Amino acid sequence: MKIKEIKDINPGQFIDQKIREIHSFVGDALAINTLSGGVDSAVVTMLGHRALGERLKTFFIDTGLMRKDEPQQVVSTFKKLGIQVQVVQAQDQIFSALKGLRDPEEKRATITHIFYKEIFGKLIRESGAKFLLQGTNYTDVEEIVAGLKHQQKVLEQLGIDSEEVYEYKVIEPLIQIRKPLVRKVCRTLAMPAAIHSRPSFPAPGLAARILGEITPDKVDLVREANRIVETFLSATGAFQYMAILHNDWVTGVKKGKRYPGWQIEIRCWDSKDALSGVPFKLNQTLLLEMSDKIIAEVPGVVSVLYNITRKPPLTIEAV
Ligand code: XMP
Repeated sequence: MKIKEIKDINPGQFIDQKIREIHSFVGDALAINTLSGGVDSAVVTMLGHRALGERLKTFFIDTGLMRKDEPQQVVSTFKKLGIQVQVVQAQDQIFSALKGLRDPEEKRATITHIFYKEIFGKLIRESGAKFLLQGTNYTDVEEIVAGLKHQQKVLEQLGIDSEEVYEYKVIEPLIQIRKPLVRKVCRTLAMPAAIHSRPSFPAPGLAARILGEITPDKVDLVREANRIVETFLSATGAFQYMAILHNDWVTGVKKGKRYPGWQIEIRCWDSKDALSGVPFKLNQTLLLEMSDKIIAEVPGVVSVLYNITRKPPLTIEAV
């Protein structure tokens, strides 16, 4: 079925309609969803809880690929909103599946498979739920239909019958709208600014920001670099910003000796909808200070780059 975009909504009416739809679709059954902390999954969690109350179980799957303190922050934010979120530890499973993989698409496909089939499928079977609520939005649909990448969210657009392969039915209340409208709905739901104004973060997490093999040590390193980049760039008004860890060592100098170290690439995007983008114009002094901070605080980094390529041909994330 071809999905049609809705370009304008009355957020209040949209919310009422989606709550009614989720309610009638799920009936008396149980539903389940995962929350990443991003605006899409946050809105779906809120709509789902309004529609189903206790019959919706919300999980945060800690893949080990999230930003600093993200699991704790997500749980406490939702607790304040009256929604209980259960954390599932999945770091070991994810890291052992990723061991030795270097190909970007293979890494993404592995994360998708482990996330859905191994972890989510098991949760569903144990919970007795038959329905999964997902935060797929219209931009996700377009990118997957265009064959730009394997995206975790859009199983059905990939031609996968989720009921058969993953044993449950997917409900996607936001599939016809793009992120700016999702943010509008989020505000109308009276969710905090930390959620409705949060920059996008990819479902495969920091794995999308590591070239080459993904190991826990490399994730720790890129997490720290992302924390610094976010601190420096959150006030710029840029669409999205990130630190990416390169694969090969580059040569630096330490105490007068040649010293092989890590290279970090910074991207900071000006964009409306993530379909295209240009590098955000950043002040040279700010760039230099950010680089100094990364070199000083992220062990082993000897080089910091700022990427000046447009999307296309580049993508927003590195993987
Ligand atoms: P790319 O890297 O494809 O990213 O130019 C476009 C936008 O989508 C985000 N992104 C993802 N979001 N699951 C998501 O939910 C994913 O697998 C994924 N990959 C990229 C990216 O951060 C940007 O906002």
